[in-house]
Amino acid sequence: ALYGRVERPECIACGLCQMLAPDLFDYDQAGIAYYKPDRNTGTKALDGQATIHFRLAYKRCPTHAIKRSDHAFDADPYTPT
Ligand code: F3S
Repeated sequence: ALYGRVERPECIACGLCQMLAPDLFDYDQAGIAYYKPDRNTGTKALDGQATIHFRLAYKRCPTHAIKRSDHAFDADPYTPT
């Protein structure tokens, strides 16, 4: 399985992930991205078309703020405010 999350302190609000994968990423009021499917907790597995979109954003994020894992994340989720 593939899980994703934005390491929010590393996001510079460039906007690319939301352009490449609008189904997966959105911004808080400060323009900092979060992962939409599970409110950035990294606990909901991706599948199908979403996986392709995720990989695009993952590769293109300029600060590598988008993280991926083959198991659910369990650390501080950096949830949007
Ligand atoms: Fe931030 Fe990277 Fe998206 S800098 S807005 S997480 S592409």
